[in-house]
Amino acid sequence: MRADMQFLHRNMPAKKARGKVFVVIDVLRATTTIIEALSNGCTEVIPVATVDEAFDQVKKSIQEETLLGGERGGLKVDGFDLGNSPREYTRYVVSGKRIILTTTNGTKAFQKLAGCEFVLVGGFTNVHAVVQRCIALKADPVMVPAGLRGGFSLEDVVCGGMMLDILEKSGVALMDAAKAACILYKSFHRDLPEMARDSEHGRELIQLGYEEDLDFCLQTNVSSSVPVFRKGSITLD
Ligand code: MLT
Repeated sequence: MRADMQFLHRNMPAKKARGKVFVVIDVLRATTTIIEALSNGCTEVIPVATVDEAFDQVKKSIQEETLLGGERGGLKVDGFDLGNSPREYTRYVVSGKRIILTTTNGTKAFQKLAGCEFVLVGGFTNVHAVVQRCIALKADPVMVPAGLRGGFSLEDVVCGGMMLDILEKSGVALMDAAKAACILYKSFHRDLPEMARDSEHGRELIQLGYEEDLDFCLQTNVSSSVPVFRKGSITLD
């Protein structure tokens, strides 16, 4: 097995998808929110690219069973049930519900991977569980940081680096980009919450009043859930 890191998903080479398992990572906050929602009994998350698409999807759904979630500019969209704070996605709110989710960066990364055989959802909250699943699948892992407005996102790459560090210790070879992500993880691992607070996205969320979300999203290995994206839907399999 060989593991890689796709620093910018806009360059994703879809043709090389066979024999690979992609791990989409948007620590702040989309993938952490998806992991939390499914851990709390939500039946499926449908990631969509735009707000209009989200409203269209909800019209086609059974209204009582469906919630609209996501953000633009970090804030809940007018007319949506939920924003993109994982702390909103409690068991009381999401159990038994289907969630249509649209976020600025995170949900778009899934569109790029539509049709790929194995696509997992990762964050700091489920690092170990994702690594175990990658090993069990015996496919080459590729970390896909969702990034920030199409660019680099430190906290996503560091989270991927943490997964890659464990994979390397389990005997998986690392490609050059994966090695670089590992080095970044090792240089920040002593204080991951501080790394996130000082990241571009972290600073934006703090300004919007979401500092508690950073604490939530930086918890490591608190979930054994590994959501899987397949045929436009994210479920726990
Ligand atoms: C995104 O997908 O762009 C993020 O999750 C934005 C956010 O912090 O809500």
